[in-house]
Amino acid sequence: MQQHVDLQAFNTFGLPARARWFCVVDSVVTLEGALQFARAQTLPVLVLGGGSNVLLREDFPGVVLHMQLRGVQQLADDGDTVRVQAACGENWHDFVSTCLAHGWHGLENLALIPGSVGAAPIQNIGAYGVEAGERIESVQVWNRETASVEWIAAADCGFGYRDSVFKRQYRDSRIILQVVFRLQRSATVNLSYSALAQALAGQEPVTPQAVFDAVCRIRRSRLPDPAQLGNAGSFFKNPVIPAALHRQLQQRFGDMPGHAVAGAEPLVKVPAAWLIERAGWKGRRLGHAGVYEKQALVLVNHGGARAQDVVDLAQAIMADVRQKFGIALEPEVQWVPAQQGLDSRVC
Ligand code: EPU
Repeated sequence: MQQHVDLQAFNTFGLPARARWFCVVDSVVTLEGALQFARAQTLPVLVLGGGSNVLLREDFPGVVLHMQLRGVQQLADDGDTVRVQAACGENWHDFVSTCLAHGWHGLENLALIPGSVGAAPIQNIGAYGVEAGERIESVQVWNRETASVEWIAAADCGFGYRDSVFKRQYRDSRIILQVVFRLQRSATVNLSYSALAQALAGQEPVTPQAVFDAVCRIRRSRLPDPAQLGNAGSFFKNPVIPAALHRQLQQRFGDMPGHAVAGAEPLVKVPAAWLIERAGWKGRRLGHAGVYEKQALVLVNHGGARAQDVVDLAQAIMADVRQKFGIALEPEVQWVPAQQGLDSRVC
């Protein structure tokens, strides 16, 4: 257990914040000990993976658990389906690369997403037509209420768009330890995302390796590398609005994009990047924080930004988008401590 640890290198935004207590968790025994320590002193606990989806708004007064359990193992292979278990501390992109190298297919669309395996189920990471939840079979967690290890089947994880039970009812009570994936030996690829299909147009046959390479190329051309420019990926979720409202807005903004979302009622998902760009924010700066010039959904630290710079920028964008389109943006990045009243609403 270390004290007064600088967290700047542990969050990809590169924001300055300190942890009163900091523990590198490389085993369940270490985790149990750190949680007992926190409980004995009634300290809050913050679970940190790759730190790629978090906005640390201030110093953390409790115990930061830096999850570093390691290991990837094949559990079963029937020639069609391969079951693979990965520990929470594995780097996500390295895990995707390992799977591809072994001929375990299905995760190539999720290449180059920053963060750790343990963070993947929490917000159900997704990109280029695939969400992690579609490939997850079960998740092993530490249950803080019963002080024991338990398994949760994917069907009980409540996976949705950037959502799961781990962001909601299990937020404070379950800590992800291991994730089991169901992958395929067959080389079937998912080209449902039009930008990906376009990038691979004319290539036959399209292999999982080609998809992996194309996703890496697209991401490198559009998204900033956190090692060079601090950021936490998409800062906001793409808002889902009633189809009727989308039609109304299209009468005023003829080129407003949107994709129908399957479900009981007619809903449309609108790219937040388009709303932010049309509200005039793309490439703009406020203090040391700014909106990335090539992708308006990404807020960046131009160097020396403090959390308040990012908060001010996010709130100014949210206010403008709400005023111009009547749509409330919801941050995708987790604010620590949480900010009340930031739920997605359409006004
Ligand atoms: N667009 C703009 N301006 C921009 C960028 C995009 O108007 O600056 C519009 C365009 O109409 C474009 C559309 O937004 O066609 C979609 O853009 P893009 O394909 O870049 O995807 P996105 O909706 O902005 C989402 C995810 C990304 C993921 C990509 C690809 C969310 C919150 N973000 O972004 O995820 O990589 O799709 O699947 O759903 C992340 O979560 O950190 C992340 C990067």
